[in-house]
Amino acid sequence: MRIGIFDSGIGGVNVLSCLLNKYPNNEYLFYGDTKNLPYGNKSKEELMTLACQAIDFLLTKNVDIIIIACGTISSTCFKDLKKKYSIPIYDIISPTLKYIKENNLDNIGVIGTNKTIESNIFYLENKKVLMKATPSFVPIIENGEIDIKKDDILKELAIFKKYDYLVLGCTHYPSIKKIIDDNMSIKTIDMGKCLCNELEISNNSKKSIELYFTMISVNLIINVDKIIIDEHQIYAI
Ligand code: DGL
Repeated sequence: MRIGIFDSGIGGVNVLSCLLNKYPNNEYLFYGDTKNLPYGNKSKEELMTLACQAIDFLLTKNVDIIIIACGTISSTCFKDLKKKYSIPIYDIISPTLKYIKENNLDNIGVIGTNKTIESNIFYLENKKVLMKATPSFVPIIENGEIDIKKDDILKELAIFKKYDYLVLGCTHYPSIKKIIDDNMSIKTIDMGKCLCNELEISNNSKKSIELYFTMISVNLIINVDKIIIDEHQIYAI
């Protein structure tokens, strides 16, 4: 199966690595819109245009399904994209909400981009939920500054001290999971893993991993190579 995945950048690569764990034998076509990063502060119209560019590109690669590996696009454009395209499209937030409900989780913190938090998509009736936009984490992760900015990250998260779960509501954030695990007692929820729990696809085609980025830097290549240990090709487009 040819699987198309897109995000603004390294967040989608985190989702790709979850998919590879569950379904190692597929053809993965990844589109990272690093030129237009960050997505989290853009208008809905801009996000829709960028999401269509990503999907149209992936369609030229003959993908069978599209995975929106981005909380921001999932929270603002998913319904419109489903209406516009006939190819099966999966978002990253619905499986996360389902996981929370099915496991009856409560006392939950949510971090995400401005756009995702503003959308209120993580509002859960009859549950205690604290949502906070943490947009500064995206450039920290993209620039590979996680270790030097560790104290700033933890300061932003201090508000969640008394919460039991923390939804990493932006796909970039699994990159800071280790810092959270090492310094806080909160249990993190990874949207990529929730998606993989839900997704049922075949796992029997040939294996290939191609990553296309609208802008490439040395940092980006280092970050991708750290996350994707399987053989892969990176292209600038
Ligand atoms: N990784 C994306 C998300 O899940 C986008 C982050 C950004 O570009 O601001 O929201």
